[in-house]
Amino acid sequence: MADTLPAPRLPRFVQLYHEDRAAVREELLRGLQAPRPSIAPKYLYDALGSRLFDAITELPEYYPTRTEAGIFAAHGAAMADHLPAGATLVDLGAGNCEKAARLFEALRPRRYVAVDISVDYLRHALGCLQRQHPALDIVGVGMDFSQSLALPPEAGAAQEGPRLLFYPGSSIGNFSPEAALAFLRQARAACAGGALLIGVDLAKPAEIVEPAYDDALGVTAAFNLNLLLHVNALAGSDFRLADWRHRAFFDAAASRIEMHLETRQALTLRWPGGERRFAAGERIHTENSYKWVLADFDALLRQAGFAATRHWTDARGWFAVFAAQAGD
Ligand code: AVJ
Repeated sequence: MADTLPAPRLPRFVQLYHEDRAAVREELLRGLQAPRPSIAPKYLYDALGSRLFDAITELPEYYPTRTEAGIFAAHGAAMADHLPAGATLVDLGAGNCEKAARLFEALRPRRYVAVDISVDYLRHALGCLQRQHPALDIVGVGMDFSQSLALPPEAGAAQEGPRLLFYPGSSIGNFSPEAALAFLRQARAACAGGALLIGVDLAKPAEIVEPAYDDALGVTAAFNLNLLLHVNALAGSDFRLADWRHRAFFDAAASRIEMHLETRQALTLRWPGGERRFAAGERIHTENSYKWVLADFDALLRQAGFAATRHWTDARGWFAVFAAQAGD
């Protein structure tokens, strides 16, 4: 009787990021042993970190996600007029895939390729998405694109139509201006003949930016501190959360928010084969989030080889979404 239900379609999944455990451990320990210790922000996104980030986007103080969503809602159709139709939509850092899904109707992609470093979380999100969009060709790619943006063939070959790279949320803000230029050059090459749709958080007073990264509920603190649990799991270190506190401040000269983890008192951190002493008040730098001036980001896109750039902002001028053609 009930055997007539079609088997649910499952998204294809490509795992490019073959976790090289030893290399990850070495990278982390090198960062911890440096005179100015640091951990790369990509390690914020284990399964719990991805969920904590989703919670951040709901906070009253965290304006970027909601402001960007307002821009997409108001101008999505206008954006679609400036973007290739029937494209392969490649979502860089897809997370819960919600942003892209809201644009499916306006952009009408022929295929949706979701790329993220947080593989288990992405698998779960894509399973849900495929149920909501049973006819859409969906591909998941587990990959760390922070160093190299070499996409697999499943992300759409050139003869299959244009690629539309989607990089929302001001994730570009994690890169220094120099690294952002290098990344955008790679992006331009990756979507030759197509286009880029990118969200950028704009420069604004510290009184607005700082609470967005140090919210009253402490969710951003939990997000930052969870990094230490992830590092313990990856490198075998013995971080204890009670020894560390979350710090976030705006550096106006560099136009960036810096996130750090700061010791509450002197301590010795240990891991298999080594240790490091931390003084009281010493910090580990965990993230930069650059805030761009509109004209500077437009110039950066052009410097990276993009043309016919267009942008849309919110009424307060807090956030911008740029559409840019990649040329051939
Ligand atoms: C995902 C990098 C855009 O910089 O605003 C949010 C990450 N860090 N709260 C940002 C983040 C702390 C976020 N990006």
